[in-house]
Amino acid sequence: MIFVDACFGKKTPYTPVWMMRQAGRYLSEYREVRAKAGDFISLCKNPSLACEVTLQPIDIVGVDAAILFSDILVVPLEMGMDLKFVAGVGPVFSNPIETLEDVEALDVKGVSEKLNYVYETISLIRKNLHVDKALIGFCGSPWTLATYMIEGQGTKTYTKCKKMLYQNPKLLHVILRKVTDALKLYLEKQILSGVNAVQIFDSWASALEEDAFFEFSWEYMKEISAYIKNKYPHIPVILFPKGISGYLDKIDGDFDVFGVDWSTPMGLAKDKLGSKYVLQGNMEPTRLYDKEAIKTSVKAIANIMQNERHIFNLGHGILPDIPVENAKYFVSLVKELTKR
Ligand code: CP3
Repeated sequence: MIFVDACFGKKTPYTPVWMMRQAGRYLSEYREVRAKAGDFISLCKNPSLACEVTLQPIDIVGVDAAILFSDILVVPLEMGMDLKFVAGVGPVFSNPIETLEDVEALDVKGVSEKLNYVYETISLIRKNLHVDKALIGFCGSPWTLATYMIEGQGTKTYTKCKKMLYQNPKLLHVILRKVTDALKLYLEKQILSGVNAVQIFDSWASALEEDAFFEFSWEYMKEISAYIKNKYPHIPVILFPKGISGYLDKIDGDFDVFGVDWSTPMGLAKDKLGSKYVLQGNMEPTRLYDKEAIKTSVKAIANIMQNERHIFNLGHGILPDIPVENAKYFVSLVKELTKR
């Protein structure tokens, strides 16, 4: 699998490419299957339909890896939190965490079994995906999950979780510990079900100042990664802490690929981390609105990385109103311009 080879820094015929959020609303085929499922959570819980939408971008856009169709929030959902996706708002938990009792009520032991529908989806995808294409499993970082669990929904200000961070950091650590323990087992079961790599999404890393980022987020991500690398050294681990270009000097740990977000200059990431880790990224996702904008960026990134120790991707997820044709153009251009 050229994707897995590239994760380990091996030379590949071209730089493999995939897109974060590649299975989603910009594809009419996705919207049809989602309508059939009824709603988003039902789609996540239906292995045959989840398998179908996972495979869509492989066939339609031509990416080199599939990413499991699910959501980072199924973990708190199966820990016992009531989750709904509300149109115009996004994910909402009706019972956010406020107290130690709330945390104690969360079920860690049962969670990895309750997520059986995810493992079934993985086996089904692996049976239907071409042997040359990798399947990426994933989870959210403990910090990013905690932001949703504490705020009850997406936030611009992080008011409740920041208040907890300063006023009751011990309680925040209790939450992070519990989520971390669940995520280790969850990723392990994903691997045993057939994924070929795993990515941890820390979408809201940028909400934390430097010391807080390392204490409340990176330490837990590193712990999960070390656990996986120790037991499954052949499975690449990709860590994606979004928006922390100022903290790259202190990034360390046992993992394989560092996901570079679009606000971090690729040259800077290469200087700071390129010899230690393979880099993934990082075209600014809204460039997908315009072919010339795509070409300029793909050329610039390819020129910096020189088809060495690199996986092409966007610097964050693809948006729902991107023309499919432009996504195809991005993928084919990467393959063409990085050919050895
Ligand atoms: O294609 C893929 O990348 C695989 C599937 C995937 C989804 N979500 C599907 C999804 C992955 C890897 C995620 C991760 C995820 N989910 C993150 C981290 C990545 C990132 O983008 O930073 C976060 C923060 C979430 C939480 C979440 N789930 C949000 C904020 C939303 C958006 C709500 C909205 O209406 O825009 C979701 C819903 C979601 N997850 C959709 C998809 C395809 C859209 C659901 C739909 O309406 O069909």
